[in-house]
Amino acid sequence: MSAHPQAAQVDDLDDGLFNQISKYVYEKTKITLGKNKKELVRARFGKIIRQRGMSGFREYLHWVQSDVSGDAIREMMNAISTNLTSFFRENEHFVFLSGTLIPEIARNPASRAGGMIRLRGWSAGCSTGEEVYTMAMVISEAVTRLEEWDIKLLATDIDTNVVAHGQRGIYEQDRLEGVKPSLIGKYFTPCPNEKGRKSYQTKEVLRRMITFRHLNLFNDWPFRHKFNFIFCRNVMIYFDRPTQENLINHYYEVLNPGGYMFIGHSESMSGVSHKFEYVKPTIYRRKDDPEGK
Ligand SMILES: C[S@@+](CC[C@H](N)C(=O)[O-])C[C@H]1O[C@@H](n2cnc3c(N)ncnc32)[C@H](O)[C@@H]1O
Repeated sequence: MSAHPQAAQVDDLDDGLFNQISKYVYEKTKITLGKNKKELVRARFGKIIRQRGMSGFREYLHWVQSDVSGDAIREMMNAISTNLTSFFRENEHFVFLSGTLIPEIARNPASRAGGMIRLRGWSAGCSTGEEVYTMAMVISEAVTRLEEWDIKLLATDIDTNVVAHGQRGIYEQDRLEGVKPSLIGKYFTPCPNEKGRKSYQTKEVLRRMITFRHLNLFNDWPFRHKFNFIFCRNVMIYFDRPTQENLINHYYEVLNPGGYMFIGHSESMSGVSHKFEYVKPTIYRRKDDPEGK
């Protein structure tokens, strides 16, 4: 990498170079960057280019492609991912989780193991963790005797920064807008964050249910067990149809019989070939139901 003492010229992003960059991003993440994403690419990678004192996008692409440490591609993935999320986002899914899914698990003999009721969930594309902490709160509220449940929630994302944020579990006050005050009192501890702003940290009772991991959905899934439910919401929107189809069929394989799949409200599985049964908008189920319904 050449260091440029002057302000970097980051204006070499012509259509040819943009196509090369979007092809590379697609190969690595399956995120589709159409022509309408050129300004997004200019803004997000332009920032890295300026910070690193590079001459422009050509040098940047060359640098990422030739980096063997994995750091450059990680930084690139972190920059291109869109991490918008919130607590209790698309709340109908959480109503379904507490009102239908949890009672179903509780009465299903196949969920019993070692005297406990086993529950496994996955927030795939978890961003900064609001989704998985919402799951943990909703589950804690829905079950009567938490000590009888063996609950493990996996939260994964391609972006290492958001995974680290989720692990810390610290959120500024305005991020908690969607959370009822009674739940804030029960599941969060007030604390200043590193900027000294009023913030809250999730309590141990939630944190011990959750494992955060860095995972590119298109790399191997090193899971030892199957899931009762998967939330993959507002993630597939960035992928093309063939990629969505592969992913959805892969999710099917790692769900228990009767397990549920939740997608984002602006997403659809129509036009995708899959084996799921439709339950209601944005909720699907693995067909081979253990209760024989
Ligand atoms: C818009 S956020 C959605 C967060 C949350 N699921 C929700 O609905 O609020 C999309 C997340 O998907 C992640 N993502 C995108 N491509 C991915 C990939 N190939 N593997 C894993 N995560 C990915 C992004 O890093 C981002 O955090």
